[in-house]
Amino acid sequence: MVTFLEKISERAKKLDKTIALPETEDIRTLQAAAKILERGIAKVVLVGKEEDIKALAGNLDLSKARIVNPETYERKDEYVQAFHELRKHKGVTLESAAEIMKDYVYFAVMMAKLGEVDGVVSGAAHSSSDTLRPAVQIVKTAPGAALASAFFIIAVPDCEYGSDGTFLFADSGMVEMPSVEDVANIAVISAKTFELLVQDTPYVAMLSYSTKGSAHSKLTEATVAATKLAQELAPDIAIDGELQVDAAIVPKVAASKAPGSPVAGKANVFIYPDLNAGNIAYKIAQRLAKAEAYGPITQGLAKPINDLSRGCSDEDIVGAVAITCVQAAAQDNK
Ligand code: COA
Repeated sequence: MVTFLEKISERAKKLDKTIALPETEDIRTLQAAAKILERGIAKVVLVGKEEDIKALAGNLDLSKARIVNPETYERKDEYVQAFHELRKHKGVTLESAAEIMKDYVYFAVMMAKLGEVDGVVSGAAHSSSDTLRPAVQIVKTAPGAALASAFFIIAVPDCEYGSDGTFLFADSGMVEMPSVEDVANIAVISAKTFELLVQDTPYVAMLSYSTKGSAHSKLTEATVAATKLAQELAPDIAIDGELQVDAAIVPKVAASKAPGSPVAGKANVFIYPDLNAGNIAYKIAQRLAKAEAYGPITQGLAKPINDLSRGCSDEDIVGAVAITCVQAAAQDNK
């Protein structure tokens, strides 16, 4: 069977996108860059010092990569000025902007902001916050998006639920304590992301420990309110809640616990009430159900800036780059 990532990689090859990789001091980045270039998935910008990159790369073929050193780049002053303009309301002076632009992740994100690359993949050697903070500070949210959030694509082997065992989990990586409005917005954008990446109809379950009023508390009320708002925001998308996971995916349980629901029994997009739930759930699926977990992937940013897990392999980086290319192309079409 063709995997999710193989399909995405094939799509990326047709898009001719350019992705910046700032973690050039990590060999996995360079190994991934060599594979991306060899397979023709994307053009690559490596942010760093040419001599250091070449020394670390050894025999890897990076001849087709563009290497940009933030300290000697001819557009350096323009970058510093642009960052200062963006952040001066937060007290960032020209001097501190110059210091921050020496940081490879910040610099790469600014390359995306200024249109020199289509997206950025980072996080093999940085915490999620170190990758996501420059993203929300510099590229900010896409037009029409209320906030940025992060999701995982979860592909469970031999699974009859969801979209042939494929699901989107959100938010599982970014927004710690979302408001009712945040959860509703995350649900709507996740449905669109699922359609883009998995190319199947989204059925969005607003998850809870309660199904259709089986329990009542502040927690369940928040999910009910988020469901109502999400349905108002996107009346054409199948969104329902509050649902427990079994009612969301198992037709028999759905028939008894949530009869008549347009989502129960066939959900493929799982929306969690907070980051604790979303992050715990994806790791359970990954470790106990032996699911492939692709992410965290961001959505709602004006340019795709994607995070990696620090335990990632070079192949994981290749996959994240392919996903980033597909997201970038979707933004071109808006
Ligand atoms: N969407 C859009 N904008 C956001 C945002 C979001 N989800 N979160 C923060 N911002 C904005 C803020 O409004 C702020 O704007 P401004 O400075 O222009 O006024 C800017 O981004 C920076 O905010 P700041 O307060 O410096 O960042 P933060 O401390 O809120 O951190 C994250 C933002 C994304 C880094 C933070 O939410 C985070 O660390 N999330 C958890 C990530 C994590 O650990 N995941 C692990 C699981 S994989």
